[in-house]
Parts: sequence; C-alpha cells; structure tokens
Amino acid sequence: MSSFNIENFIKDSVRELKAYKVNEADQHKKALKLDANESNYILGKNIKKKYADYIKDTLINLYPDPNSKNLLESVEKFYGIPPKNFIFGNGSDELISIILLSLKKDVTVNIPSPSFSMYEIIAKYNDLNAKIIKLNDENFDLPDNIALIDDKKLKNLYFFSYPNNPTGNHFNRKIIYGLLENKNNLVVADEAYIFFSDEKSFLHELPKYENLIVLKTFSKIGLAGLRFGLLFSGDKLINEFKKIKLPYNINSLTLSSIEFFLKNFDEFEKNIKKTVKQRKNLYEKLSTLPFIKVYRSDANFLLIKLNDEKYKVKFDNFLNANNIIIRNFTGGMELYYRITVGTEKENKKLIDYFTELSESL
Ligand SMILES: Cc1ncc(COP(=O)(O)O)c(C=O)c1O
Repeated sequence: MSSFNIENFIKDSVRELKAYKVNEADQHKKALKLDANESNYILGKNIKKKYADYIKDTLINLYPDPNSKNLLESVEKFYGIPPKNFIFGNGSDELISIILLSLKKDVTVNIPSPSFSMYEIIAKYNDLNAKIIKLNDENFDLPDNIALIDDKKLKNLYFFSYPNNPTGNHFNRKIIYGLLENKNNLVVADEAYIFFSDEKSFLHELPKYENLIVLKTFSKIGLAGLRFGLLFSGDKLINEFKKIKLPYNINSLTLSSIEFFLKNFDEFEKNIKKTVKQRKNLYEKLSTLPFIKVYRSDANFLLIKLNDEKYKVKFDNFLNANNIIIRNFTGGMELYYRITVGTEKENKKLIDYFTELSESL
C-alpha cells in the first residue's frame, strides 16, 4: 500500500506555516501574565451575580440567534450604526479571515511591520500576495511616501491597527484618508485598542467611504474569553461578507453575554479608565530604568526595547525564573517586548522585579 502523502492534499501555503503558539500561564507558580493584551480586571461580585442571572435561561438546545432584536438594537445604540452595516465575528480574528477569504487573488494585502501577526498569517494561507510596509524606525509611523507607492491602477487592501499593536501609536490619519480617496484601495481600520485612546474612531467615516472597513473587539476590555468582534462597512462590502460568514459563528452564551454587557457597560468604562491611569504610571516608572527604552502608547500595553544586546539572555532568563510572561518578538525585533498594562498590584510587582534586575545588571 502506498503511504499517505500530505503534500497531495494540503496547500503549500498551509504546510509552510507554523501553528500559532499560545503562551500558557503556569497556574501553580502564579505567573505574572502580561503578554496577550487582555484585561486582568475581573468582574465585581454584584455584576457577576446579575450576569449569571441574565444568561442562565439561554436556550443552548437551539442554534444561536444572531438577529436577536435586543442585541441588534443594543449594538446600534452603542455604535450608532444600523444593523444592516455590521456583522459579528468569533473575535475580530474571524472577521480578518472573512475579509481575506473574500478577496480576489490580484489584490495585494499591505501590512505594516511591526503589526498584528494574524494579518500576514491569514493572508498567506489564503494564497494572497502580502506586502510588508516597514514602519519608520524612529516613530513607528507609516512611511511618508506610501501614497507614491500606492499605484492607482493596482488593487490594494491595507490593514491598519489603530492604535497599532505592538507599537501603541496611531498612524498618520491624513495618510489613511489619502489611501481611502483612491477607490482601488480597501482600507481596514482595526480599532481593537481604541477604547484606551483619545483618537476618534473611523466609524463615522463609513457614509463617506464605501471602501472602508472598521473592526472592533471586546477582547481587550475584559471579555477576551467570550470571543466577540464586530465588522462595520458600507452596504456593498458588508453584503459580500455576509455571504461568507458562517451562519452560527457566535455561540448563544456569548450573544446573551454581549447583550447583558452592552447594557452594563459602566463596569468596563471604569476598568478602561483604570488601565489608562496605570499605563501612565507604568510608563513613568519603567522609563526610569536605564536598561530599557519605553515607547509611549495609546493602547493597553507598552512596548519596550532592551538598550543593549548584552542584556537579552539575562533578561529572558530573569523573566523565566520569575514566571513573568510578556510578549517577545522574532524577525529582527528580538530586543523588543510588549507588556500588557495590568492591575495596580501587577504593575507594582513588575516594576519591583525590573528594578531588582536593573540593579544587578
Ligand atoms: C490589532 C488586533 N486586531 C485584532 C485582534 C484580535 O482580537 P480578537 O480576535 O480577540 O477580537 C488583536 C488581538 O490581539 C489585535 O491586536
């Protein structure tokens, strides 16, 4: 009998990938887990009880109802966009996938670097042409000449994480408007972190730009486990995305939960404010340490860079030994680390650890 040959079945673009590795916090050692830009605030007792009451009668024997009037109305009220112009995703990851699944092969997918890794991973296994836009070294902004590179005859899609993960800054808005003016471009404004920023959302630009897509997620404000994201766009684009979205992609418990939390959003507002305050504090404290450079951020994380290559091994060993989980990078970014802004207690712990290390270097 001939042997089973995986190459006969699975696309090269899939086989060439490495599976996404999720960090596992070591519960026994009580890890300081600040790697995934989650919110480390847990729900208060009262709201938790009300929440449990709200979802307890969810009918899990039936398929979920994504057109629940209650939910659609709550989302419309929250974002000011009518239901015909949004779809829900199992996290915004799924919505990125839906966008890329819908594209013709001759559309180039432009991805800033460094930015959120899933743009490139999903583009690759969809066999799309992914083009990397290297951000300016000094301020991580888009290169000024992007409009010149932007060939009006070619079809392009641009992903802009706004603010950008992992650098924490906003790209020059004028450049994004310039790209939107060219109708051979699709522009995705991924606003996963905009809750933590004072910048205006691109949502209100939707009536003006048919080629604009706005992504939102509730993962970064305390609901990562529910897996819920939203995609907003004009009628033409959204009607195509609706054809690709799997009918029951969001489970009933998530739908009920989102319905509840949209009505009780103060809980999150409170924690967002705390995170922004903690970000400022963490930035100031980390900035005093001579072995790292800290970058300003409008998101719920801070990017740091080791000031010298010689600290790398010692730093990594120190993180390991103390069970501190932060995000490290590859591909020329080995000296950079992204730290999620934690609770006051966690940030204090981190600062104490880093101060201790700094004194020993
Ligand atoms: C910029 C950006 N977009 C999208 C996501 C995906 O979020 P989710 O799938 O949890 O909604 C992330 C998560 O880290 C992100 O950083």
